[in-house]
Amino acid sequence: MGYSTLKGRNLLSLRDVGADEITELLDRAADTKERAAHGERVPVLAGRNIALIFLKPSCRTRISFVVAATQSGAHPELFGREDIRFGVKESVRDIARVFGRVFDGVMFRGFEHATIAEFARHAGVPVWNGLCDSYHPTQVLADLLTLRENFGRLEGLPVTYVGDGRNNVAYTLAIAAAKLGLDLRVLAPEPLHPNPGSIAELLAEAESPHAAITVTASPDRALADSAAVYGDVWVSMGEEAHTRERVDLLRDLKVTPDLMAGTGRADTIYLHCLPAFHDLDTETARAHPDILEVDDEVFEGPRSRVFEQSENRMHTAKALMQLTIAG
Ligand code: CP
Ligand code: NVA
Repeated sequence: MGYSTLKGRNLLSLRDVGADEITELLDRAADTKERAAHGERVPVLAGRNIALIFLKPSCRTRISFVVAATQSGAHPELFGREDIRFGVKESVRDIARVFGRVFDGVMFRGFEHATIAEFARHAGVPVWNGLCDSYHPTQVLADLLTLRENFGRLEGLPVTYVGDGRNNVAYTLAIAAAKLGLDLRVLAPEPLHPNPGSIAELLAEAESPHAAITVTASPDRALADSAAVYGDVWVSMGEEAHTRERVDLLRDLKVTPDLMAGTGRADTIYLHCLPAFHDLDTETARAHPDILEVDDEVFEGPRSRVFEQSENRMHTAKALMQLTIAG
């Protein structure tokens, strides 16, 4: 393993890294995944300490970073909303300077992107965005690995995101498309279309000639020949007050077997960052039975790769911490 340009770097958004660096992260993740399958551990972060800050709840991101750090030889330490009260008793800048002197890297899940950017400016150690209102880069690394495992390539691969086209996952997929040449289609009702200026900006900076981002409310246009249909919750964390209006906007875009058939391909896979509403086994879904963004038949069906994708969160978190801390 040679020197990596990722050493010492942040991952606040996928815009922070080049296409070659994303490929390097995916290659390292695939390699560590293969080694882990044989029980091999590569303790390249032995003696290091990692902080994990969660201002919003988390399951996957938390377990991925904890296990990835531990298997790499590092010690992970968790901090919740009540432990770190930014701006209440201490500024973001001061907390970042304290963390930067003690920890070798910090995973941060929060609200406004400006907060994590401010934290990263003052920490002086690698900071990784574990989700904010605008971006979810550690999720999309796992998504890219899953797509690559299933189709052997990313360039020119048609992928349809369906749901709230303005959210953190949709925007991060759009960045990935511009960097790596996905043919991304964002299927959303017009009020939930991403900002056209932001999409145009991404395409103007595209690193791959295959990069395409189509934003449309037409299922036919979005789905034709798509290799993957990608779902997310209709209401992101912190937006719960908008549940009713979101359901009304998105109910016609629920992912059903019929919608999946719109790709015209037998090998289309279904992806979802999770958590997903696909049945009535949760309190939230029982309170709003029309909030389900995907039919159980699709979620549990043979084309679903959601749990492989979720496992890949751990392998990509490992690659990210290893390459940005140890190089
Ligand atoms: N996909 C994802 O980030 O899951 P968590 O919110 O459970 O971490
Ligand atoms: N868009 C979702 C992703 C959850 C992993 C949210 O922000 O809640």
